[in-house]
Amino acid sequence: MDVTNSQDSSANPLTVVVLAAGMGTRMKSQTPKVLHSVLGLPLIEHVLHSAQSLDASATVAVVGHGRDQVIASLGESFPHVETAVQEVQNGTGHAVSVALEHLGQTPAGSVLVLAGDAPLLTSKDLHELVSAQVGAGAAVLTAHLDNPTGYGRIVRDTAGNVESIVEHADATPTQLDLGEVNSGVYVFDAQLLAGALSRVGTANAQGEQYLTDVIGILREDGHVVRAVVTGQDNILGVNDLQQLSHVGRILRDRIVTHWQLAGVKIVDPQTTWIERSVTLEADAILLPNVTLSGSTTVAAGASIGPDCSLADTQVAHDAQVVRTTASGAVIGAKATVGPYTYLRPGTVLGVGAKAGGFVEMKNAKLGDDAKVPHLSYVGDATIGEGTNVGAATIFVNYDGVDKHHTVVGKHVRIGSDTMLVAPVTIGDGAYTAAGSVVTEDVPPGAIAVARSRQRNIIDWVLRRRPGSTSALAAVAHSSGNSNSSEGS
Ligand code: UD1
Ligand code: CA
Repeated sequence: MDVTNSQDSSANPLTVVVLAAGMGTRMKSQTPKVLHSVLGLPLIEHVLHSAQSLDASATVAVVGHGRDQVIASLGESFPHVETAVQEVQNGTGHAVSVALEHLGQTPAGSVLVLAGDAPLLTSKDLHELVSAQVGAGAAVLTAHLDNPTGYGRIVRDTAGNVESIVEHADATPTQLDLGEVNSGVYVFDAQLLAGALSRVGTANAQGEQYLTDVIGILREDGHVVRAVVTGQDNILGVNDLQQLSHVGRILRDRIVTHWQLAGVKIVDPQTTWIERSVTLEADAILLPNVTLSGSTTVAAGASIGPDCSLADTQVAHDAQVVRTTASGAVIGAKATVGPYTYLRPGTVLGVGAKAGGFVEMKNAKLGDDAKVPHLSYVGDATIGEGTNVGAATIFVNYDGVDKHHTVVGKHVRIGSDTMLVAPVTIGDGAYTAAGSVVTEDVPPGAIAVARSRQRNIIDWVLRRRPGSTSALAAVAHSSGNSNSSEGS
């Protein structure tokens, strides 16, 4: 790739066409094929991501099967992408014609054609292809496959340029032996493409207008068609759910490798799933079985796992998160979370804070160095710094109709098994007695005792449960006591 070429290509306007009208029959699913997700994104969005850095002047997706869902999904995530409807799927050549008709007039510059079901293309591949087409009629992305069955074969001329593409169903035995295949990704000179499409017929095994026939037509007209060869994984398309998980694993490995080379310690790549949208800092540590999704970020020195799923969660430096499910949470520096902890949206843990085993939190702020160590529900609360919330405390936030907020001050000691019935405020430095049901505000420095006084009914078991193991144990204990008092 020389510098002149890449300058030329960036000056040349580019229109992107994504083919996504096919049935996807082999998926055996109600969901349109291109909307099936790998690593949190529909297939077609991975394709659009790979083309994003090309700065196209327009992007058109050709939709057909399941069009309402595809249009709605693209409208949310890629609103700048236009959609053109192909009513009947008459072939890939017809699909590109539909896109050009949608644009009204033939666009200036070049047209990049992509398939909506091939999510492993890299932007490097696409930049190379765009550069290769400069000065040529078209450029085709190809790969050498161990098993080329089903793909169109690339026929090269003696100069090494592309002479034609022959579909598997239409190929001679000699052509079937060719291992270099058509990826279905091309860059065309836009004017030449439009002219050639109008001459594409349907005299082939499938009775369809093949986009691949454009290549042969350009050659007949004396134009050069170049090939750019890429790795075989990059061109993989998805036709069934087995292939969906296969491309998912390849994508997972690529993302893991990227972060490992950026300084993130990832112990078990095969059980570590990191979506494209996640950001990690060098010296973060990911232990086995971790899924990081959405806008999740993990800072240096933080350790996640084993067994964590974090969605849209920010983890600050040196925090430790073990066996935790979190969504929309903010975990402060040096905070500790887990095991078996559930942090729901709006959870904010301060510096050095702790949400321990079997703790669920929602819309709750835990101040610096504050702790909820065991078995508690903290919903709709603000808890001050240095406060300790005893085991099995419940923030009773729901009256059956509305949610209410609880405020707990700084350096408070909430006794184990306290019910804090919201709305209620516990003042700075206050205590609550274990087992209290707190319905009224507690002033700073006070202790709230909100439980009935204990009463012991002497010898109740001997009278009401005579002969039971409990009664016998009680009797043995008192005779033991009288023996020892006799002895003294
Ligand atoms: C196509 C190529 C083949 C290449 C292969 C790579 C042709 C004739 N053949 O074959 O050389 O090796 O891709 O995967 O182009 N689509 C539409 N409308 C249509 C038909 C298809 O939008 O009328 C879309 C499909 O949804 C899909 C893409 O175009 O996203 C490719 O179509 P498909 O039928 O899968 O083509 P292949 O037979 O695989
Ligand atoms: Ca295909």
